[in-house]
Amino acid sequence: MPQTMPDIDVVKKAVLLACRAPSVHNSQPWRWVSEGVVLHLFVDRHRWVHRADRSGREAIISCGAVLDHLRVAMVAAGWQAHVERFPNPNDLDHLASVEFSPLEFVTEAQHKRAEAILQRRTDRLPFSRPTFWAWLEPVLGSSLDSDIAMLDVLSDELRPKLAKASYLTETLRQNDVSYHAELQWWTSPFALSEGIPPEALASTSERWRVDLARDFPARGDADRRADVAVDCSKVLVLSTEGDARAEVFGCGEALSTVLLECTMAGMATCALTHLIELDESRDIVRRLIGERGEPQVLIRVGIAPPMEDLPAATPRRLLDDVLEIR
Ligand SMILES: Cc1cc2nc3c(=O)[nH]c(=O)nc-3n(C[C@H](O)[C@H](O)[C@H](O)COP(=O)(O)O)c2cc1C
Repeated sequence: MPQTMPDIDVVKKAVLLACRAPSVHNSQPWRWVSEGVVLHLFVDRHRWVHRADRSGREAIISCGAVLDHLRVAMVAAGWQAHVERFPNPNDLDHLASVEFSPLEFVTEAQHKRAEAILQRRTDRLPFSRPTFWAWLEPVLGSSLDSDIAMLDVLSDELRPKLAKASYLTETLRQNDVSYHAELQWWTSPFALSEGIPPEALASTSERWRVDLARDFPARGDADRRADVAVDCSKVLVLSTEGDARAEVFGCGEALSTVLLECTMAGMATCALTHLIELDESRDIVRRLIGERGEPQVLIRVGIAPPMEDLPAATPRRLLDDVLEIR
């Protein structure tokens, strides 16, 4: 095992960049501890989104994504990460211990991947059909280890079934007061360091043009991207063999890989999990991927108009709140 630790400022910078990772409702359910030559990652149970994510699966996926983002950030800084997952069998909230060794050379592609962290946004507006899909699909497939997460690209013919499942989820939940109260809380326009700001959500007029979406409270009355009348995204499903914590964590790492790969290819993305949160709709998604695993997260992938300004980044917690240096 390597026994070198990069300068603490390098670690701080990498953690800050890693924390740009996506997380359910921008809850950022992670905690980092830097101790000697090791950087530890914990899931923060106080930040679970309890009503939507009853099992805590999405918190673990989010932590998998932040771990992969950290690896990418450290590589760009010239350090290879060596990850031990679940280092303490008595504490499964301790998700990973990471040590580092210096790299001799950082490639252009590795720098680009780290830049993609800053370019990526969750985009909830309609997308145009992805171009060069025949090229991108195999790239995405080969970027993943199928023993950790399986990737399915749903055919366009299955889209109406998926849209029905999306609608079903929201209908089943329409009287779930706690779910809606939680959603309101995480989309409150006053949050400064967490949650989803109004401009990142679809407005009343925009939301009807995307048939696969969580029914967030509509904010604002903008009519952005009016020339994309209907969403023509490709829909990807990431699944695992089972729902064990290690599998779900690995799926989060795979989610990060897919999102960054798509961003580097100039694609817009939106992770979706509302369909996975209820058994009824999860069953439908499972059938659509041929019952070959447990679906964990869907991703809409498409093109946003190239001349459009990049929307403002969603907020993040302060570094001192997420990183403890011992
Ligand atoms: C596990 C997970 C589940 C998510 N589920 C949804 C979802 O159902 N609908 C949605 O619009 N965004 C979803 N997101 C995206 C988050 O809301 C988004 O990452 C967060 O608000 C931060 O914004 P950003 O991705 O633009 O940085 C999910 C992200 C993760 C990691």
